[in-house]
Amino acid sequence: MIRLALFASGSGSNVENIYNYFSNNTNFIISKVYCNNANAGVLERCKRLNLKSLVFKRHEFFESSLVLKDLIETSDVIVLAGFLWKIPENIIQVFSDKIINIHPALLPKYGGKGMYGMNVHKTVKENNDAETGITIHFVNEKYDDGAIIFQEKTSLKPSDSIEEIAQKVHELEYKYYPKIIEQTFS
Ligand code: GRF
Repeated sequence: MIRLALFASGSGSNVENIYNYFSNNTNFIISKVYCNNANAGVLERCKRLNLKSLVFKRHEFFESSLVLKDLIETSDVIVLAGFLWKIPENIIQVFSDKIINIHPALLPKYGGKGMYGMNVHKTVKENNDAETGITIHFVNEKYDDGAIIFQEKTSLKPSDSIEEIAQKVHELEYKYYPKIIEQTFS
């Protein structure tokens, strides 16, 4: 059984989607949700789904081995699903090539520090791009920089609002992320 740790900072719609996809899977199990924001919506979802969670502060994540020790005990693979901090070196080393992320754009476009959530879709809109999409990639010590595993595009209309762009991207995330996780780590 491959134990998936899910990392999230916000609403957690991808966490819930991944949980649902693997709920009857005999090869994968969600071990725990790791979160850096005590007020994040994802923690409500954990309560409702009866999912274990660990909330940690910045110094606990970057200046202690508290999270790494917990991960070593609970999980085999780390799945970032809307997690906004860089992964520290100690976790990267222990879980090398076992950390995956989804970015709501076609990297290398619109990646890097500060490019997350609506910031990405706002920039895509400002640039009048005719398409956007998702990128699923391995995680290294930089933002949005690891080897790309999968990309999928969606076309945009000039009349699409930022919210409509976000919705189109979310649909791709929900459709593909769980499948790519399963393919990558089976
Ligand atoms: C998603 O758009 C994902 O691509 C990005 O962060 C967002 C998380 O949304 N990494 P949610 O918290 O899963 O709803």
